Amino acid sequence: MSGHGPAIPMQSKPSGPLTGEAHVPGDKSISHRSLILGAMALGETRVTGLLEGQDVLDTGAAMRAFGAEVWKDGETWVIRGVGVGGFAEPDQVIDCGNSGTGVRLIMGAMATSPIAATFTGDASLNGRPMARVTDPLALFGARAFGRSGGRLPMTIQGAEMPVPVRYATPVPSAQVKSAVLLAGLNAPGETVVIEREATRDHSERMLAGFGAKVLSEDTAEGRVITLTGQPELAPQTIAVPRDPSSAAFPVCAALITEGSDVLVPNIGLNPTRAGLFTTLREMGADLTYENEREEGGEPVADLRARFSPDLQGIEVPPERAASMIDEYPVLSAVAAYARGKTHMPGVKELRVKESDRIDAMAEGLRANGIEVAEGEDWWTVTGRGFGDVTGGARVASRLDHRIAMSFLVFGLAARDGITVDDGGPIATSFPVFEPLMQGLGAAIWRAEG
Ligand code: S3P
Repeated sequence: MSGHGPAIPMQSKPSGPLTGEAHVPGDKSISHRSLILGAMALGETRVTGLLEGQDVLDTGAAMRAFGAEVWKDGETWVIRGVGVGGFAEPDQVIDCGNSGTGVRLIMGAMATSPIAATFTGDASLNGRPMARVTDPLALFGARAFGRSGGRLPMTIQGAEMPVPVRYATPVPSAQVKSAVLLAGLNAPGETVVIEREATRDHSERMLAGFGAKVLSEDTAEGRVITLTGQPELAPQTIAVPRDPSSAAFPVCAALITEGSDVLVPNIGLNPTRAGLFTTLREMGADLTYENEREEGGEPVADLRARFSPDLQGIEVPPERAASMIDEYPVLSAVAAYARGKTHMPGVKELRVKESDRIDAMAEGLRANGIEVAEGEDWWTVTGRGFGDVTGGARVASRLDHRIAMSFLVFGLAARDGITVDDGGPIATSFPVFEPLMQGLGAAIWRAEG
């Protein structure tokens, strides 16, 4: 859905210790892919633990518009797919709301079928670059008609006679890689994606799970992924693991709140996603992995986070960026309470997320008394340590869920707390954020005006 209702101002302030268990929702990336691949399989895919955030619900609605059936049976989501090449032409505009993942993956999935579809989203999504996806889709034979700068609203005319593609992604992006692989499903022969830096590999793992032939090889050029086109995808039963990107918020809140001890069970620790936790441990966080195990081919653990009074600023290696790209905002909130500088290079992609996340965090942190320096592809937060952060200023969430949640976490250790102008976007990825954090004892609530 484009936009949401009236702004929901929210506040947070220091509370007593955070304790208990935080059961965070299902992984957003895997939830989108479950719906899209389910729609491209022939038969009924059943999914438990699906994230019921607005981004994912919008992808579900889009899959219905392309002809799949999607419904909920008790706690299980069921997708009756139409098979590779089976998409119908939607008779309405596809509204992907706030979701870059949704729109980019769906564009890829439909680009090699002889149908047209028009995509739109909210003000955030309609400002984001789509050429990174439409450029490789053009190589398959698809055509894109969008606004200036390759922005939505945009119509994609799918290829009548798709050809397979060999494409080296110019930016480290799992969304671009996934769009190309999904388009490759309905092209004959082998589609190859080469990525210099490995990004999250859920598409590769799930395509293989649905029965496609996908080969990943690490070579001197980078990671080379080869997909054999026109497979028959078999419906699957999927248990979506809990989202490490959502786990980041209760974990970080516990690290900066005196006396806290929080358990965040069942978190997927796929190495392409777990960079934040490594970084926090390097900063001196009391963060441990308990009950480490494998589930559905993915490493999983229960995370235990305790108050960590001696955090130190560090240099975050740029090669780690892809594995924690969505976590830099909340890392910057924690870095404000560390001693010394946390330098975060190699993060240009942060400027084209739901908001310009470097600019959004830098502005709000500075307003709350924290020194931030920035360049096009780096930023540095100078921490003040505990007890010396005043806070108290109102900040803008800029239609960006992770900016809203990161500032609410920041406010938990700032003397005068914080006010976020609009917590509404949180519902895109973490609809139970507020009750979950309150259940741990966090002073986070909806404010007046
Ligand atoms: C995602 C990939 C990332 C990430 C986004 C989800 C995905 O974007 O920021 O939240 O599910 O593929 P990029 O691939 O554009 O970096």
